[in-house]
Amino acid sequence: TTPAFTFANGDRMPALGLGTWKAAPGETAAAVTEALRIGYRHIDCAPLYGNEAEIGEALAAAISSGLVKREELWITSKLWNNKHLPHDARPALEKSLADLRLDYLDLYLIHWPIALKPEIEFPTSGADFLSPGDAPLEDTWSAMESFADAGLCRHIGVSNFNVHRLKHLYVRSRIRPEANQVESHPLLSQQMLLDFCGPAGIALTAYSPLGSPDRPARLQRGDDPPLRDAPEILQVAAKHGISPAQVLLAWAVSRGTSAIPKSVNPERLKQNLEAASIRLDEEDMEKIAGMNQFYRFIDGALWAMEGSPYSLEWLWRGHD
Ligand code: A2P
Repeated sequence: TTPAFTFANGDRMPALGLGTWKAAPGETAAAVTEALRIGYRHIDCAPLYGNEAEIGEALAAAISSGLVKREELWITSKLWNNKHLPHDARPALEKSLADLRLDYLDLYLIHWPIALKPEIEFPTSGADFLSPGDAPLEDTWSAMESFADAGLCRHIGVSNFNVHRLKHLYVRSRIRPEANQVESHPLLSQQMLLDFCGPAGIALTAYSPLGSPDRPARLQRGDDPPLRDAPEILQVAAKHGISPAQVLLAWAVSRGTSAIPKSVNPERLKQNLEAASIRLDEEDMEKIAGMNQFYRFIDGALWAMEGSPYSLEWLWRGHD
């Protein structure tokens, strides 16, 4: 069985989940169905990914056919940046629940600590943002707490929060954030966040654990350092007779994070799930830990455009 993160109430989140960002319409349902068939029980979703309704179809079919029971699944979704105002947040959650055909989520996250005006999905100018003063994260968090109170989600958390922002919310919250989902892989180990989250009982989930090679062109840079084909990764892969992607995922799970690699390919879905049960030795772990260079494939530059009330310094400071 796949290792899991255990929350304070005993709920268990499988450490290896299926990422659904970039899973295209028309191929998502088949990927989710295949994932459930081979044993995935954790699916990471968000309305921004444009495929929650399709995922909902696959979930409903898997449940009604008896392949899985609802209570065996771990389903995460996220509140998009233009829904931070408390009166916009509840309808956003209800839309995700309706699309996913669920009556509760296992985990609901604030997708980014960035607020946009309600009519803006992606900003094109500084005027499209709400400032932290207009839409305080504490107020959005109060709304998240009310969703947990109402039983609409069993756990609440955040995403793309640095250690300062996470601590700020943690000490002020009535219901503490129980998860933080951030980019993480050997080039961005997030060790400082992990050191805070572990003792605080906060699940740290690694997105883009394979370096997000299929991210949209607008997020690509020509000069990415090697990840899957870095010499350290290739050495460990050869030593254990596993694929480079499996090294990345085994490393993520072995160090106590969860990981949500995206795949829509049956063979890769299978090898990714199996990677969660591969144990690397101390020599491997140290070799890979030496690769950290604070490199972000998802750099957040969009949120720090000219005229934005947010900066990259504010967003990421404290990552090291
Ligand atoms: P595909 O969906 O065709 O399998 P990330 O989770 O970091 O965003 O990475 C997702 C990308 O990595 C997708 O392009 C996905 O392609 C690819 N991918 C997923 N699993 C593997 C694997 N085991 N080996 C190689 N590439 C993979």
